Amino acid sequence: MKRLRIAVFASGRGSNFTAIAEAADRGTLKADIGLLVVSDPEAGAIAVAESFGIPVAAVCRKEFDRREAYVTRLIALMHEHDIDFIALAGYMKKIPPELISLYAQRITNIHPGLLPAFGGRGMYGRHVHEAVLDYGCKVTGVTIHLVDEHYDHGPVIAQECVPVLSGDTPEVLAKRVLEVEHRLYPAVLACFADGRVRISNNRVEILPEKS
Ligand code: GRF
Repeated sequence: MKRLRIAVFASGRGSNFTAIAEAADRGTLKADIGLLVVSDPEAGAIAVAESFGIPVAAVCRKEFDRREAYVTRLIALMHEHDIDFIALAGYMKKIPPELISLYAQRITNIHPGLLPAFGGRGMYGRHVHEAVLDYGCKVTGVTIHLVDEHYDHGPVIAQECVPVLSGDTPEVLAKRVLEVEHRLYPAVLACFADGRVRISNNRVEILPEKS
């Protein structure tokens, strides 16, 4: 089986990207991280990519007059870097439908909550944890899902619960959730890299490891 080449798309500090790059470095994720795409040339994730020797492309929608040129650039990058899988990790832009159909069932996203609750437009970062606390939820968690044309939407691949504790602030809760994110995302990508993900009728199943 060909070794998977993953592009990570990120817009911010890149702590999930770091966890993914570390797992690939360690060999627990048997894939190559072939490219980091950022939507913001100031993204902290860029320094992480440089420290791992991963190429970076900053692709900002506003630098393109026409939407088609922006989409063409993204697709060309995927081809140039021989990318067969895309992992969104804190990417704040919508993925163009052309890229979604080109990488059908090969784009994943991580969300710091239990979808379909507390997801969708405007529900990112601190906003998710604030809403969870405002609602009085006793559990929250992490969702990793396949990406479709809607925000925070698509078949769930993996979910893990995280307890909400009395006295939690959004920051404290975010930290507890992030620890799970950093473990779960590389583990899920490792399943794709090992060919242990079966998708049928929009349902995703992780197959057991061969002994
Ligand atoms: C994470 O909480 C992730 O779930 C969400 O965006 C955040 C990105 O954080 N999609 P980081 O840049 O990986 O630290």
